[in-house]
Amino acid sequence: MLIAGNWKMFKGPAATREFAAAFTAPAGVEVVVAPPFVSLAAAIESGLTVFAQNVHWAQEGAFTGEISAAMLLELGVAGAIVGHSERRQYFGETDETVARRAEAALAAGLRVIACVGELEEERERGETEAVLRRQVSVLPDDERLAVAYEPVWAIGTGRTATPEMAQEAHAFVKTLLDRPVLYGGSVKPENAAELLAQPDVDGALVGGASLDPASFAAICEAGAAAAARG
Ligand code: PGA
Repeated sequence: MLIAGNWKMFKGPAATREFAAAFTAPAGVEVVVAPPFVSLAAAIESGLTVFAQNVHWAQEGAFTGEISAAMLLELGVAGAIVGHSERRQYFGETDETVARRAEAALAAGLRVIACVGELEEERERGETEAVLRRQVSVLPDDERLAVAYEPVWAIGTGRTATPEMAQEAHAFVKTLLDRPVLYGGSVKPENAAELLAQPDVDGALVGGASLDPASFAAICEAGAAAAARG
């Protein structure tokens, strides 16, 4: 059971230290946070297990604005998120660049959470499985890779996939790649237990609700309880 907090472009170093001082991870669940690049060091120094929100495939080079896996490892970062739908929507990320980022990160020794998920219109057209097949088929089969199923229409909207919808998509993803699958999209303390109780929901990738230490801790508690039930 892995609960990951994706802080997106929130929390500089001072706010990161404040969060860490107020947050206690429960036993029985693995908890990681993904702060913005400038706050990675503060999070690590505060004792959190830390993922980056992105990583480049080259070790170094003329790639303005990018960060390599080697640089993240030097800092003490444990892993990286790749292919978040916001990167795909706003920053031109493609299935091919997501795969390159994932492969390089894994080869360098980072763990990876690779995000996949359909748009609302794709679900309405009955294309969810085709989209997931396209996005998942490029990902490397590696023991340090987890997939995050994040239906784009559920991210930051307050609309969560039903537990049945999540379970169905997760089970489908696992027919393509036999790796743990986290659910993401408006996970909150109120809906976490039901989502995490699904047999193929192996954790959560939490955005908005991971910014508040108490609400993130409540989601982590739900994860620990679900893990304890098996
Ligand atoms: P949300 O974001 O929990 O705020 O919907 C999830 C994500 O983007 O990973």
